[in-house]
Amino acid sequence: MRVVVTGATGFVGQQVVKALSDRGDQVVALVRSPGKAAKQFAGVPRVEWLGYTPKAAGDWFSALEGADAVIHLAGEPLANGRWTPQRKQEIYDSRVVGTQQLVQAIAQCQQRPRVLVSTSAIGYYGTSDTETFVETHAAGNDFLAKVCGDWEAAAQGVTELGVRLVILRFGIVLGEQGALAKLLLPFQLYLGGPLGSGQQWFSWIHQQDLVRLILTAVDQVGMQGVYNATAPEPLRMADFCRILAEVMQRPSWLPVPAPVLQLLLGEGADVVLKGQRVLPERTLATGFEFHYPNAKTALTNLLKPRYTEGSR
Ligand SMILES: NC(=O)c1ccc[n+]([C@@H]2O[C@H](COP(=O)([O-])OP(=O)(O)OC[C@H]3O[C@@H](n4cnc5c(N)ncnc54)[C@H](OP(=O)(O)O)[C@@H]3O)[C@@H](O)[C@H]2O)c1
Repeated sequence: MRVVVTGATGFVGQQVVKALSDRGDQVVALVRSPGKAAKQFAGVPRVEWLGYTPKAAGDWFSALEGADAVIHLAGEPLANGRWTPQRKQEIYDSRVVGTQQLVQAIAQCQQRPRVLVSTSAIGYYGTSDTETFVETHAAGNDFLAKVCGDWEAAAQGVTELGVRLVILRFGIVLGEQGALAKLLLPFQLYLGGPLGSGQQWFSWIHQQDLVRLILTAVDQVGMQGVYNATAPEPLRMADFCRILAEVMQRPSWLPVPAPVLQLLLGEGADVVLKGQRVLPERTLATGFEFHYPNAKTALTNLLKPRYTEGSR
C-alpha cells in the first residue's frame, strides 16, 4: 500500500512510519520541515517525505492522489509550556484547519484514498471523577472538548467523498516520549508522587497497542466511525503513580501540588490535574486484543529493563 502520514515526525508518527515500512508499505510523510524528516527517516526503507503547509493548500495536495490510506496525526503539542491565547489558537487551528485542508486535498483527488484514519483524543468527553465514557457518550464542554469535537467534525467531511473514516480518540500514550517521559524524572530522583489530588482518572494506552490499532483501522474495512484508543483498565492517577514507583523501585510519596502545575502550565495543567475514565467498548467489539491491558504489564514492558536491581 501507499500510505500518506501527517505528524509523521512525532512520538506516535515515527512508530507508525516504522511499522508501515516494516510490513512493506510505501510511506509518504507530509512534514513541515523536510530537513528534520531527512534526519529522522534516514535509513528507513520505503519512506519518502514532502514539505507541506498544513493550514494552506499547496502542491502537496497531489501527494494524496492515488494513495491507499491516509493516517492523520498532526497537531500542535499540548504540553509545550503555558497555554497563552496564541498557543490555544494554534492547538485549535493546527487540528481543525489542518484537517479541513487535508479533506480538501482528498476531495481534489481523481483517485481517492480508501480510508482516512484521523486522530482525536479522550479530551472529547470533558473531565469527570465519577463518570465512565464510551464512544457513544456526548462531547464535554471545555476547551479540549471543543477542539476534539471540531477536529472530528472536520474529518467527517471525507465520508461525503466516499472515503471510509476511522476516528481514534487517543488516551495518554505510554512510551519513550510523551507524558511518561515527563513523569519519570521526579521518580528517578526519588521525588515522585501523584500530580494534584491523585483522584483524577488516567486513561492510557501502550504505544505498541496504539500503533497496532492504527494499522488495524487501515486494514479492517469493517471499521468505521469512532473508537476509543485506550486500554481496557484505566486507573486513578495515584494508583498509576504507585505502580510506576513499584516498577521503577522508587517511592511514590511526594505529590506535586496543583497550584505548582497551574503556575507552570496555566490552563494546560488541567490536562494532568483532571481526567476521565474511558473504556474502549467499540474497539474491543471489533475483536482487537490489547497486548498491554493493564498499567502493570505496560509499565513493566516499557521500564523494567532500565530499573531492575543492579541497574540503578
Ligand atoms: N501522545 C499522547 O499521549 C496523545 C494523547 C492524545 C492525543 N494525541 C494526539 O495524537 C497526535 C499525535 O501525538 P504525538 O504524541 O505523536 O504528538 P507529537 O509528538 O507532538 O507530534 C505531532 C506532530 O504534529 C506535527 N505538528 C506539531 N505542531 C504542529 C502545528 N502547529 N501544525 C501542524 N502540525 C504540527 C509535527 O509534525 P511535523 O513537524 O513533521 O509536521 C509533530 O511531529 C497529536 O495530534 C496529539 O494531539 C496524543
